[in-house]
Amino acid sequence: MGLHSDMTMSATVSDTQAGFPVVRPRRLRHTATLRRMVREHRLSVDQLVLPLFAIAGRGVEVPIRAMPGHSRLSADLLAERAARAYAAGIPAVLLFGVTEHKDELGTMSFDPNGEVQEAIGAIKRLVPEMIVVTDVCLCEYTSHGHCGILRDGEVDNDSSLEVLARAAVSHADAGADIVAPSDMMDGRVGAIRTALDARGYQDVVILSYAAKYASAFYGPFREAAGSAPSFGDRRGYQMDPANRREALREVALDIGEGADMVMVKPALAYLDVIAAVRQSTTVPVAAYHVSGEYSMIKAAAERGWLDERTAALEVLTAIARAGADLVITYYAEDAAAWLKETL
Ligand code: PBG
Repeated sequence: MGLHSDMTMSATVSDTQAGFPVVRPRRLRHTATLRRMVREHRLSVDQLVLPLFAIAGRGVEVPIRAMPGHSRLSADLLAERAARAYAAGIPAVLLFGVTEHKDELGTMSFDPNGEVQEAIGAIKRLVPEMIVVTDVCLCEYTSHGHCGILRDGEVDNDSSLEVLARAAVSHADAGADIVAPSDMMDGRVGAIRTALDARGYQDVVILSYAAKYASAFYGPFREAAGSAPSFGDRRGYQMDPANRREALREVALDIGEGADMVMVKPALAYLDVIAAVRQSTTVPVAAYHVSGEYSMIKAAAERGWLDERTAALEVLTAIARAGADLVITYYAEDAAAWLKETL
């Protein structure tokens, strides 16, 4: 597992004095067992979080075209899939709601009988030990598909906070262990912490999507969740991919407001941000290997252009190596199985 203090170390004098042919780095790569002994970073199933999409009904499974292997699931089937993942060693799921009942204010986001709320209950009945993380956002619930409430055609920060806090409380009411706000409104971590504490949920954890970039790699997710914005884009609230310092500022602000863990999203194109965030804080850091990152490996593998297992494990290990304690990935179930076989 990651020993991240090593990122500040450089080669010592004695390392650099001797040279070839005395020094031969290949000696330590000779056999699989030797390589296993000197491996610096190890991806563990304990780090994995599996995202799942909840829909209404019973016994309903709707495959997501752009994400082979993933479906939208009604609460009963979703809980069964979560239970299988838990049995495979995956400690947590991250839930998204997909609803047909959208409105201007995204009121389904805090409906006690909403898709996510039902799914939380079903998981908690079947596998109470499993950690349930919920995505807190409005884009899946608003008719316009933006992550907050509109005012004069723009996403209004402060009035969105109240709805987001209501959604987070409704997830806690349903039994969520961790709420993960992904909307990128300013002040939402504080608003959610205050609302949770007022209801006696001081032990509900906040995992903040602190550094969430306006990324093209969310494409398949928006098909899965039906959450593409009906006009404009998300660049007025999600971060500019060109910025790294700003990520550290977002992280510091969210921790100041009470975030227990912070997330960088996406992962692969932002390994430098993960590393910088890891160095800037002591709280656990999560990285989200997002839908597009999953689908591009899938698509290349389907064409025979990449070996899926090696490519996926390489990427997930790199994300952990960069400094992520938790890795949220659609590959969680495959990775859990692969890691069991790999010595
Ligand atoms: C909701 C949200 C999105 C993702 C997670 N939460 C979509 C978006 O911001 O457009 C993307 C996840 C993925 O691509 O796997 N705001």
